[in-house]
Amino acid sequence: MSKIHAAITAVNGYVPEYVLTNKELESIVDTTDEWITSRTGIKERRILKGEGLGTSDMAVHAVNGLLKKRGITAEEIELIIFCTTTPDLPFPASANILADKIGAKNAWGYDLQAACSGFIYGVSTGAQFIESGKHKKVLVVGGDKMSSIINYQDRTTCIIFGDGCGAVLLEPNEEGFGVMDSILRSDGSGRQFLHQKAGGSARPASHETVDNHEHAVYQEGQAVFKFAVTNMADVAAEIMDRNNLTSEDVTWLVPHQANKRIIDATASRMGVGSEKVMINIQRYGNTTNGTIPLCLWEWESQLKKGDNIILAAFGGGFTWGSVYLKWAY
Ligand code: UT7
Repeated sequence: MSKIHAAITAVNGYVPEYVLTNKELESIVDTTDEWITSRTGIKERRILKGEGLGTSDMAVHAVNGLLKKRGITAEEIELIIFCTTTPDLPFPASANILADKIGAKNAWGYDLQAACSGFIYGVSTGAQFIESGKHKKVLVVGGDKMSSIINYQDRTTCIIFGDGCGAVLLEPNEEGFGVMDSILRSDGSGRQFLHQKAGGSARPASHETVDNHEHAVYQEGQAVFKFAVTNMADVAAEIMDRNNLTSEDVTWLVPHQANKRIIDATASRMGVGSEKVMINIQRYGNTTNGTIPLCLWEWESQLKKGDNIILAAFGGGFTWGSVYLKWAY
């Protein structure tokens, strides 16, 4: 019997309607469109407005569209891996909440927390359940309502992040398409440079933590940049080497969208021209777990069966990694 690979058989995405432009940010913090564009590549980002709406509400849109595209019902889903840094609630898992909202009555699920590398970790771990034969339909969701953990008085972080969510379906493939390889890495000593200070068990919420904006993203941008630019490029080059892929063999690079300069450095290290790189950071900013599936969704109509695709990400933790997959449809 030929080896079972986990293939992406459907992809969909959702971004909220509200557009937060650099121009509007100029009226909120001391910044300029010119600074944001030249330092990050971002022009605008989407914000989820509406009382009581969380990350799972964006996932409902993405997943319902995905099920329709694939022509299956929610009851057929066996496992939901919800990659997010902004779950609806500390518990239960957003995977459970999503399963209830879409009617995935036969699924079990869990949330996966790996900051901006979450979707890569999710695809890689979801693939194991397919390859082992345990499951035949695994939903990997990547999404964040980053606006819920942003201090809109902090110009160093509020210009970067946005809200959005994407999802892919993994199914078995015995024709040699799907996830071929993955490299996942982490270094917890990097947590000091990018984290949320309060709201966890070490520092529960209090009046003081709220007053100090400790429930918002804390980032030392330059330090993170230095690690991101090296590690994301290294891991993407490593997965190419390990699979004997030349830059000509790579059809698409799908990088995490944190900073256009990090994306360009990764592509350059791989020797891949800009025409092969999916970039939508200018419109959505950094949606954390949403960036890679949102790119796949947006470029879906251009993808062809057999395309060699490299996913690469770097994020808080630190976490980073790369996935090599052969597109299956
Ligand atoms: O996705 C998870 C992983 N995260 C990342 O990969 C993010 C990595 N880091 C970055 O993308 C960049 O470091 C940032 C975009 C966050 C910042 O860009 P930078 O080029 O590293 O700027 P910087 O922090 O070195 O700041 C340069 C200057 C400073 O002013 P002085 O000290 O030189 O006077 C900042 O105060 O720019 C100032 N600055 C701003 N100016 C206008 C910082 N933020 C802003 C702003 N508008 N929004």
